[in-house]
Amino acid sequence: MHNINRRTFIKVAAVSFASFLAGCGVEEKKNLSIKFLRQIVTKNISDSRCVMWQVDKPLKNPAVELKTNDDKKIFPAQDSTFIDDGRTIFQYTAQIELGNEFRIVDGSAVGDWHELKNSPTENFKAIIFPDSQCGGDYDTWGSVARQAFKNNSDANFFINVGDIVDNGEDNSQWEDWLEQVEDFLPKIPFAPVMGNHETYSRDWKIRQPVAYLNYFAPPDNGIENFSRRFYSFDCGAAHFAILDSQWEELGREVIEAQKKWLRQDFSQTDKPWKIIFIHKDVLQYRINGRPERQEGFSEVGEIFMPEFESLGADAVFTAHLHTYRNRGRLKNFQADENGTLYILTGLSGNVRYSGLWIDHALDKFVAPQPETDNYLTLEGDEKFLSVKCFLPDGELIDETTLQKI
Ligand SMILES: [Fe+2]
Repeated sequence: MHNINRRTFIKVAAVSFASFLAGCGVEEKKNLSIKFLRQIVTKNISDSRCVMWQVDKPLKNPAVELKTNDDKKIFPAQDSTFIDDGRTIFQYTAQIELGNEFRIVDGSAVGDWHELKNSPTENFKAIIFPDSQCGGDYDTWGSVARQAFKNNSDANFFINVGDIVDNGEDNSQWEDWLEQVEDFLPKIPFAPVMGNHETYSRDWKIRQPVAYLNYFAPPDNGIENFSRRFYSFDCGAAHFAILDSQWEELGREVIEAQKKWLRQDFSQTDKPWKIIFIHKDVLQYRINGRPERQEGFSEVGEIFMPEFESLGADAVFTAHLHTYRNRGRLKNFQADENGTLYILTGLSGNVRYSGLWIDHALDKFVAPQPETDNYLTLEGDEKFLSVKCFLPDGELIDETTLQKI
């Protein structure tokens, strides 16, 4: 009598079942192993999304399958593999329409279904994270982000205002950053902002931000030399422009290119709210122990504040200094109730500049010192805009509301 153990029986049964399905014209579906499945914002996140994901080995027919109310659609993916930090990152990118659920497919292999939340056409809500760069591991970033997502599961997208990682070439940092929020990345679109740390090489020199530009595919700005470095998108009643403040690192040509692009970009939107994100701050702070340094405006402020204000930007969010400060509304370099709201967004990593900055005359609210971490929410409709700043435990520490009459 031929003995058969339980494992062999299961194997034989599985092969027989697969043969039976193949005989019926039904292909076996295999689990597709992917990582860092993420949504990136598109020009209008109310009607489309960019989906990206990474794999260990190249795929043959990668695509996104979309389930709608009465149909299924396939959106072929582009190979967006890149090499950086001595590693080949096999990844794919697809532009998809909105529907109920999506999953990654590769021939007969399929990934898990993920809910695809539609964005409203008027109301909008975003979670804003300041610099998430960390020394050591990215646990601090992960715990701030997970709490913010848990408390704001109704957000339409999230944004990081630059210095996402400490060293832009170190692939282990990008992987750690992505892993910390891997559960949330398929659920909510991400709007990246480039910071100076994205341009640092492993030996702390300046280089092109290869990893940043490849990991995230935001909307095209139409300017070949500056592709993915600045861009804009719509969500509900707001138009968002994401700018690049890294001209010290990557060359000053980006200043005029951006000014021209921003004028044209803002002239083409009819959204009631126009909101800007740029990594480096607009003010210059005095620094403890450096009496020669004067209070004033940074070069970013001197160059771009008049532009922002003449173009009618309602709010500008900055980062880079790892401190949360609300300056209220400014115009012509001074407080003005008809001006643009300027908020320095704080810190969501573990690199702290405790006691470094001396308060600026234009600071209206400064986070409790010494600072821990924080995140913000930005929500609104056609008439109202609300900005709230929270500590990681969800305690509200600052709030500003703007209104359109
Ligand atoms: Fe920075």
